[in-house]
Amino acid sequence: MNAKVDLLTTLKASFPVRRMDFEFKNVLKYWVNGDPCSTHMFSAMSVMFPDGERYFVDSVRAVRDMITDDPQLQKDISAFIGQEAMHAKEHHSFHLNAEVHGLDPESLERFTFNLLDKATKLIIRNGKQQRLAVTCALEHFTGTIAAQLMRREDIQNMMQDETMKHLWLWHSVEENEHKAVAYDVYEKIYGTGPAAYLNRVVIMAIAITLIIAVKFGFLTTLMYRDGQLTNFSSWKKGLSLFWGREGFFTQIIPETWDYFRPNFHPWQHNTHDLLNKYRAKLGMTN
Ligand SMILES: [Fe+2]
Ligand SMILES: [Fe+2]
Repeated sequence: MNAKVDLLTTLKASFPVRRMDFEFKNVLKYWVNGDPCSTHMFSAMSVMFPDGERYFVDSVRAVRDMITDDPQLQKDISAFIGQEAMHAKEHHSFHLNAEVHGLDPESLERFTFNLLDKATKLIIRNGKQQRLAVTCALEHFTGTIAAQLMRREDIQNMMQDETMKHLWLWHSVEENEHKAVAYDVYEKIYGTGPAAYLNRVVIMAIAITLIIAVKFGFLTTLMYRDGQLTNFSSWKKGLSLFWGREGFFTQIIPETWDYFRPNFHPWQHNTHDLLNKYRAKLGMTN
């Protein structure tokens, strides 16, 4: 066995792929605080995951052959693909089970796919570098949200369904484990010069605007389908939980904004302690 093959077979990814198979049959309709708007806030994110994460995987897969001198990064790409595929599968399974409530979350998954497909072709001409930059931007956003959920035990305590809490915390741990993979691939191939920087920040500006608009659209759709559109006390509860002074999203604006710094790297936000805490809490042995 030559040295190169030997290195490839003995190297391990920096994080594992965990096989999951949640049972969502008995999940409460309003599993966050018994409140429609707070619950649909989480659902409006969840419906973006299956096709969003497939897009991330495809964009990294499309360029991985361009990395020929970094076997560790290749191993991490494989683990990233494995983790994202598992997230897509489990969130999709939750949406299928949630069909019993008559809100048709699967239709919002399809909308996400069409949006990503059309916006990518129209705005960024389907270029490999641009698609990878979309992934880097949204991976930063997802990793930041995930770290926030691990920090916000008050919000975890509002999750009245143990399966859903487990799903979101497992996903949060893994988003932080692999948060730099797409970014490292981008820097490795396209560098850190002005052109690479401009490309990633312009795409972040477009992506974050679209994602916030679509998320609000999904939330409104779910409230409408649920007959809760005029439930103003629920709107107030949900919106202040996420966008109030101490809101879930309000607090992560500075961290999200850091992406626009020229020397940004995802691990500048050190989440190792949070990761260790939640791996232990969730009984993850690897
Ligand atoms: Fe994910
Ligand atoms: Fe991810």
